[in-house]
Amino acid sequence: MTNNKINILIVEDEEFDVQRIQTTLKPFEEIICIKDIVSSGKDTLKLIKSNKHLFDVVILDYQISGGLRGEELIEDIKKVDSTLQVIVITKMTINQTDLQFATQLIESGASWFGTKNPTDLDYIYQPTDFVLAIKNAYEKRKLEIEKEVLKKEHTNSQSKLENNIQKAINRYSLIGESSAMKSIKRTIETYAATDANVLIIGESGTGKELVARNIHYFSQRKYENFVTVNCPAIPNDLIESELFGYEKGAFTDAKEEKAGLFEQANGGTFFLDEISELPLLAQAKLLRVLENGEIDKIGRKKSYGVNVRVIAATNKNLEVLMHERQFREDLYYRLNILNIHLPPLRERKEDIVCLFNNFIEKSCNEFHVYTPENTEEGCRFLTDFHWPGNVRQLKNVVQRLVLMGTSAIGVDEVEAALGIKNQGAFGGFALPIYSKEEVPHLKEAELEFRRRFVQFVRKNSRTDAETANKLGIARSNFHRLCKELGLK
Ligand SMILES: Nc1ncnc2c1ncn2[C@@H]1O[C@H](COP(=O)(O)OP(=O)(O)OP(=O)(O)O)[C@@H](O)[C@H]1O
Ligand SMILES: [Mg+2]
Repeated sequence: MTNNKINILIVEDEEFDVQRIQTTLKPFEEIICIKDIVSSGKDTLKLIKSNKHLFDVVILDYQISGGLRGEELIEDIKKVDSTLQVIVITKMTINQTDLQFATQLIESGASWFGTKNPTDLDYIYQPTDFVLAIKNAYEKRKLEIEKEVLKKEHTNSQSKLENNIQKAINRYSLIGESSAMKSIKRTIETYAATDANVLIIGESGTGKELVARNIHYFSQRKYENFVTVNCPAIPNDLIESELFGYEKGAFTDAKEEKAGLFEQANGGTFFLDEISELPLLAQAKLLRVLENGEIDKIGRKKSYGVNVRVIAATNKNLEVLMHERQFREDLYYRLNILNIHLPPLRERKEDIVCLFNNFIEKSCNEFHVYTPENTEEGCRFLTDFHWPGNVRQLKNVVQRLVLMGTSAIGVDEVEAALGIKNQGAFGGFALPIYSKEEVPHLKEAELEFRRRFVQFVRKNSRTDAETANKLGIARSNFHRLCKELGLK
């Protein structure tokens, strides 16, 4: 509807009947507009093809002359615009009691069918009945347009969702071609097809979380949340409220209702990292969820059903902990329905260079720097190293090497990036090395990096203008930056 009226196209080859339609519709000019009149099937198609949204309802004389007519024409009109409504009118003389004829017309896409008045009457049809038929057809068109829009939106959002999942699959793809890694990838596929809980065991940094994400994104649950909780990161007295949430007013500080992590994971996957660190009381509550699929929200009388797949990970030997009564045996069996063991990097040496090259490429792309050349000795050293921090350590080393701007990666460079040798190999740019025990806040680490990096660039430039230029900032900003970083 382009003018707030129902727009009509008349397809009629008899001048007299065109006039009768006009007369019939005249009293309803405020709501109905005759937009155009054509006399053949061919002209009809030509017109609606080039003016797709101009008409709402076609009033079609069944007996128009020319090749394209009747059911065939209706079908062709619907092919151009399936929401366009067709009202068929025929001569009084034919088909008055032929139900099959009328049914056939409806089946080919007409929304209504009526016989014209005898020729001695000025109206083509009883006017109000005719207008009601047109209004009904128009309502049908509106509904069909709405349905199409919804369908399109649904297809769009579905393809967006699929797109996001594909992106996640790419982002979390597991690198490695060792037989151990190949077998892990196959196991992930098998496990993803089931809904059973999984226990992932492996040293720190071997990729346990990555494996858990892969199981999630390859499973039916991929459209729902993947919620991860690092058990030791939650203080003991908050574990229950974090996992299960609470109702408003459940305790003094409960000003608002809070959804627990289990609720957030409903329909999806819940990843419990470092499960060995979960206190015994929380273990008992977790067991209840795994057994009954129900959570007890603090302050709520009735338990609440959740549908969650649990994947837990540990770098500890849970059997020893069970023996020491620090980990519940019943919980262990509930979690360990399926399991994956991730071998340390030193036991799958074929993966090292493959991971290294992959990380180098990604880091260089991310930081927009040239890819350094990896030397033979460099590769040999990487492969021989025992990697106590596994893949995470390897990834960190790569980032350091890339940020240091090394052009060729040899033994010295890797040793320096590992922090096991003097960092002079990098022409004075030394990255701070942090141990697991003394991790500074991100802001502090960033500041330290910026300070060392700017100092390094300045040392290798002749003037401040050159330094600013290399850093890609204006000279005035460079001075401000130096002040900020406490340089000069
Ligand atoms: N096979 C792999 N391919 C690509 N990246 C990997 C692989 N394995 C591990 N990583 C990367 O190494 C880092 C550590 O992996 P992840 O966090 O999954 O290890 P983890 O076993 O959960 O460690 P932790 O025990 O310390 O929690 C992540 O950045 C991860 O993306
Ligand atoms: Mg982890």
